[in-house]
Amino acid sequence: MPDNTINVQILSKLLQSGVNFISGNDLAKSLDTSRVSIWAHFNTLRQEGFEFEAIQNKGYRIKSTPGELHADLIKAYLHNSNIDLPIIYLPEVDSTNTEAERHLADNHPTPFAVISSKQTAGRGRHGRSWLSENEGNTYISFAFKPNISPELVNPFTPWVATQLCHHLSQIYDIPLQLKWPNDLLIKGKKVCGMLAESRVDFDHTRDLIFGIGTNINSDPKSWPKELQKTATSLKAACSKAFNINEFAANILATILNAYNEFINNNWKDKLQELWPTYDVLYNKEVHGFHGTIPINGVAKGIANDGALKLLLPDGTLKLLHAGELSLSSPITNVKQTT
Ligand code: BTN
Repeated sequence: MPDNTINVQILSKLLQSGVNFISGNDLAKSLDTSRVSIWAHFNTLRQEGFEFEAIQNKGYRIKSTPGELHADLIKAYLHNSNIDLPIIYLPEVDSTNTEAERHLADNHPTPFAVISSKQTAGRGRHGRSWLSENEGNTYISFAFKPNISPELVNPFTPWVATQLCHHLSQIYDIPLQLKWPNDLLIKGKKVCGMLAESRVDFDHTRDLIFGIGTNINSDPKSWPKELQKTATSLKAACSKAFNINEFAANILATILNAYNEFINNNWKDKLQELWPTYDVLYNKEVHGFHGTIPINGVAKGIANDGALKLLLPDGTLKLLHAGELSLSSPITNVKQTT
């Protein structure tokens, strides 16, 4: 059994026991190892940023967890939610989407996720860059082999965005909103962007890489001024810090579940039910571009192929499959991404 597996198991048991103590003896027995080995693992975890309370004759419990991403802790959270997902953690990478591509090229079995604390060449939509400093945010990419025809992949990103918006709002009691096609906003500013990239063989999606960047505990004051107008972090918007490892595990679990529902064709009713609850554009006058053609209308929700339903000034309903939109009185300048 590799060393990190014992760390994951120790952390998983400590998370399960919460405020209760677990004795070193019980841990050693349940993990089929010695007390000396358990003690050595606690020392390693302390060096990696954990604080434990250790009381003689009672045992151990977690006092605090690292403020930075810690792969074994994320795996422990996932293990406790019965999620079986290979995770590749890199402290720094060019882009998690590119790293996922490299693993796919090496025939890494899917699904898997790449997660990093910092990207040096983070990519956004429409060829933009995604600011990805190591400052308490998460940069995650999933690799899937959906084996469906390419046009059926389009609604995947808005569907995942809806599930993330719904689950994270509920878990953390935070007022997240959706902006078509797949941005998550809080108090009118962007906190999360998604970039899906697929490779297609004629009528078949060979693989799909789904990347997501979430501004969690960063301080927007350190960002370029222009960006501060349109984007924020959850910590800045909610005036509280989040447990980044638990948050990352919740993102990973939600995306994997959303993918499974998508593949099993069990998502359309839920998308139609949930999207209006969070849709920041609904019934608002929006303007933007369809290719190079300017377009104005009133947003009327999402279609099951991922298109935005737009009521045009002449009374006809148009399905907008791609493009960028802002409100007539803008809440966010979509020309700039983090
Ligand atoms: C957007 O423009 O809104 C999409 C941003 C997507 C950023 C994420 S961060 C993790 C993954 N790796 C990248 O290079 N991009 C995506």
